[in-house]
Amino acid sequence: MFAKRTNWNLAPNRLSEALATHRAVGKPLIDLTVSNPTDCGFEYDRAAILDALRNPAALSYEPNPRGMESARRAVAGYYADRGENVSAEDIVLTTSTSQAYSYGFPTLCDPGDELLIPSPSYPLFDFLADIQDVSLARYPLIYDLGWQIDFHALEQAITPRTRGVIVVNPNNPTGHFVKRAELAKLNSICSAREMAIIADEVFLDFALDRDRPASFAANRGAPTITLSGLSKISGLPQMKAAWLIAGGPPEWKREALGRFEVIADTYLSVNAPVQLAIPRFLELRHAFQKQVIERARRNLAELDRQLSMQEAVSRLRVEGGWCAVLRVPATRSDEDLAIDLLSTHGVSVHPGHFYEFPSDGYLMVSLLIQESEFSKGVASLLASIPGI
Ligand SMILES: Cc1ncc(COP(=O)(O)O)c(C=O)c1O
Repeated sequence: MFAKRTNWNLAPNRLSEALATHRAVGKPLIDLTVSNPTDCGFEYDRAAILDALRNPAALSYEPNPRGMESARRAVAGYYADRGENVSAEDIVLTTSTSQAYSYGFPTLCDPGDELLIPSPSYPLFDFLADIQDVSLARYPLIYDLGWQIDFHALEQAITPRTRGVIVVNPNNPTGHFVKRAELAKLNSICSAREMAIIADEVFLDFALDRDRPASFAANRGAPTITLSGLSKISGLPQMKAAWLIAGGPPEWKREALGRFEVIADTYLSVNAPVQLAIPRFLELRHAFQKQVIERARRNLAELDRQLSMQEAVSRLRVEGGWCAVLRVPATRSDEDLAIDLLSTHGVSVHPGHFYEFPSDGYLMVSLLIQESEFSKGVASLLASIPGI
């Protein structure tokens, strides 16, 4: 009696089971997977956040499918601060980036149409696509002096049903930004085939080794939907405030915005207090981002210090984002290794296959972890590797 698209295997995987048991018996745990910023000891301006939610204007209901103009102007201001020209008229507010995907997918795809997603990347796409009856095809990212898009494989993956290419800029978990030459190539591929680019930029501001990588928000070279939101930008995932931006050829943009507006009008899901608070929440991003970037850099430096004292494990280059990828000897599955690390050393990490790494031999650690905990966790992790 249920639709096949919801026939998910909901059984917990072996690692989640091991973690639940570990927690249930109260064993000590160093969790190197935490990516919830509200759980990582960052200082938030609590009074400012709560004050922003007390705007009396929230007492009346003035629905606007695209979202309140004051909030959209503030989002346009965020891009202006980065030197990118985005009009408030091209922005549609959503409750999350995931919801923004769910506006983009059915606007581009009929049931069974395809979108290309990067591999490795973050694991939510399969569910989003299942729910919208969209098929996903992977295009590989290759690591060779840093990560890059394998354009040959990407073009091979295109079929007559391909409606767009998803890019995550910077990608989670590889932490690499789309380069200018890659953007130009994506534009030429997509504009030639009536495909759109969907650019997920939730980590755009978290550049660790260079300043201000360009956003897709001002891209004019192909139909483009850019997604971002406050869950990462201001470290406020609980506020459920995000957006999509339509960009590209003016006619496509106008048509796309009309369609997004109908979807948004159907739900009107972003609540008034949060919309009114968006300008203030965006102002608060500076203090949050400074803390995250400083911590991520310190954790990377500590990771490199410890890695320099052994040879079995190395880390891949990371340009931005909230996590680091470790290369470990592939003497068993990443999942077995992660379970072993948990049971013998009380350290929790994500195995590479969670993110569809092409082979075993990869572990992910979050760079948001408080420094002393991170250092202890990495030391335990490295101590356990030579024994494999
Ligand atoms: C690449 C990427 N996009 C989107 C999201 C989800 O963002 P939101 O909370 O706005 O749905 C995440 C969450 O980790 C993510 O890693």
